[in-house]
Amino acid sequence: MAETLKVAMPKGRIYKKASALFREAGLPIPEEVDESRKLVIPLPELDMEFILAKPVDVPTFVEYGAADIGIVGKDVLMEENRDVYELLDLGIARCRMSVIGLPDWKPGIQQRVATKYPNVASQYFREQGQQVEVIKLNGSIELAPLIGLSDRIVDMVETGQTLRENGLVEMNSIFEITSRLVANRVSYRMKNGQIQSLCDRLQKVISASE
Ligand code: PRP
Repeated sequence: MAETLKVAMPKGRIYKKASALFREAGLPIPEEVDESRKLVIPLPELDMEFILAKPVDVPTFVEYGAADIGIVGKDVLMEENRDVYELLDLGIARCRMSVIGLPDWKPGIQQRVATKYPNVASQYFREQGQQVEVIKLNGSIELAPLIGLSDRIVDMVETGQTLRENGLVEMNSIFEITSRLVANRVSYRMKNGQIQSLCDRLQKVISASE
């Protein structure tokens, strides 16, 4: 009998896309799981267990082996820099990380940048040779330039609606983001058959949709 594969799923905007991808790959995740408030969901018929985590915590659960594998955005992977094995680009939840500001923004002496991604932002501006003060926020990042907390922000852009509705402009795109399948390094060896067969199933769906 196969062991249970513990899968850290990100709560929120990626979850539904990820569970839809699993279903397309022939893994019938019951519909009621999508609406459940339970945090640990056994799926014995699939030899799996879903762990519903905050997206930013998925790499942590996987690095420490509390989950064998996980689904997480490249943005979080870049920011958290956890020791996990990136197995697959799932091609879902596509968006980009960008520098954003007010249309009349000009370089000044004091430059502040607000973001949920302080490591990514600091590295980017260092590479650009720009001296900035990075301020960590946890959400509604677009508020910062609107009310004078920062000159610019580094944030995700998906449809661009949040920018448009708040009169902000995208100045530079830093990198493209999609969701990734990641694995704990030990689990990848110990449960290789199960993980590999899941990767193969997912890869077929991804390739067919490209
Ligand atoms: C994200 C991101 C932007 C918005 C981009 O925020 O931080 O604010 O989505 O999407 P759009 O280009 O389609 O408008 P999220 O909704 O995750 O909430 P947050 O403000 O709490 O980060």
